[in-house]
Amino acid sequence: MNSKLSKVGVVGAGRVGAAVANALVMMGVCVSVVLYNRTKDKAEGEAWDIEDAIPLLEECDILPTDKYEDFADCDVIVITIGAQASEGQSRLELLSDNADIMRSTIKELDRVAPDAILIIISNPVDVLTRIAIKTSTRPENLIIGSGTVLDTARVRYQLGKLINISKQDANIYVIGEHGDTSVIVWSNALIGAIPLEKFSLPQGTSLDKIKSEYVENTRKRAYAIGERKGGTSHGISTVAAQLVDTVLRDEKQIFTVSVKADSEYKIGEEVVLGLPCIIGKKGIERKLHIPLSEEEQSGLEHSAEKLNEAYESVM
Ligand code: 2OP
Repeated sequence: MNSKLSKVGVVGAGRVGAAVANALVMMGVCVSVVLYNRTKDKAEGEAWDIEDAIPLLEECDILPTDKYEDFADCDVIVITIGAQASEGQSRLELLSDNADIMRSTIKELDRVAPDAILIIISNPVDVLTRIAIKTSTRPENLIIGSGTVLDTARVRYQLGKLINISKQDANIYVIGEHGDTSVIVWSNALIGAIPLEKFSLPQGTSLDKIKSEYVENTRKRAYAIGERKGGTSHGISTVAAQLVDTVLRDEKQIFTVSVKADSEYKIGEEVVLGLPCIIGKKGIERKLHIPLSEEEQSGLEHSAEKLNEAYESVM
């Protein structure tokens, strides 16, 4: 799929949706963006603000709309609708508000764009992705939740900064719930091709110290940002734009997106949570099994338990 001929939709022109539309334009991901909002004025205001910079960037059109029909020939559609967490609120607490909004949005998108790849970033993303999979008529591989992609980026950034290496060489995954029970997979972490356990760390730090600090830092990062600016937008919108780019360019990159668990994880095959997958033009091209330590396995089981409970509470 040639990204230069591709059209990408964004459902919702709130703080996050507008940031996604802007990231798509800034990153030159596609040639056309459809930015939908229930109130057209909001979509227009955000679209016009973004398009003013287009003469300074790669060519791209942006169409503000309050009509789902305008998504008709989109290749990928990013779903950002729903209430955002207020200060100190957990993502799962948004579920009762956002579950029905997700169901109605999916039904509309099935009507107007049944073959588009959907990228869901609304929270709680794991449970909302499961609801989308259950509600939609499109094949499951076309529905991607942003999962723990941002959590993984957060850990990579902190680790790279600590040991003073490029963040791209901090090869470590966060899996499970995008939230308070996420699991950092330390047992398989690599610095370049060197196991983290065997990597000489800077004076004054230790792997145990890193492990204890990073779990909390990662899980609390969105809360810390929310306390200071009301909620996150740049990180999650860049994740969305990167996932769109990976699909459109068929890059076969690995991301820890929200998908139904494979049997190898032994947590049932209905729960949806962040696990490493290959992403390309078919959406979820392949689910990967990453070996886990006993502690990581029980952490994943705890995540699955919590997400199953949350899902059952809105069915
Ligand atoms: C984040 O972690 C809000 O879930 C979003 O930034």
